[in-house]
Amino acid sequence: MSDNLYDALRESHELQRSLLRKLLRSKAGTRERIDLFTQARIELQAHEAAEERYLYVPILMDDMGLLSSRHALHEHHEIDELIEEVQTLDPAGAAWIGKARELSHKVHHHLREEEKKFFQVSGKILSAAQKVKLAKQYRKDYARMHRTLSAE
Ligand SMILES: [Fe+2]
Ligand SMILES: [Fe+2]
Repeated sequence: MSDNLYDALRESHELQRSLLRKLLRSKAGTRERIDLFTQARIELQAHEAAEERYLYVPILMDDMGLLSSRHALHEHHEIDELIEEVQTLDPAGAAWIGKARELSHKVHHHLREEEKKFFQVSGKILSAAQKVKLAKQYRKDYARMHRTLSAE
């Protein structure tokens, strides 16, 4: 059976949920907290980039996909800004967990909206052959972005 685009996207969604759960449970000022934040940041950014390129760009080209892709890209940008804000805070300080909770909340909202709405919208726009091709391209770019972000 050929790879399914939505299964590929959901794999990262599950990983994001699990990393954020662990992050919020980590203890202030620990090495574990810093490492979990780095892992979550890389996962979020690698997924966002590959998803923008191989899900949202193709559906942005169709009138039916315009609003969903615009909305999703806006949320990706908001997630990026929250990541940057967390990075400016002291992981041992009190403000850090509040901002990390805000990030987690925003990501959970976004993933739910993609799974319940944007994936369905795109499912009607993309052909079966496109979905197979995009799944391959998404996985390749996601892996490449992971390597690039991890090397920074
Ligand atoms: Fe997304
Ligand atoms: Fe996603």
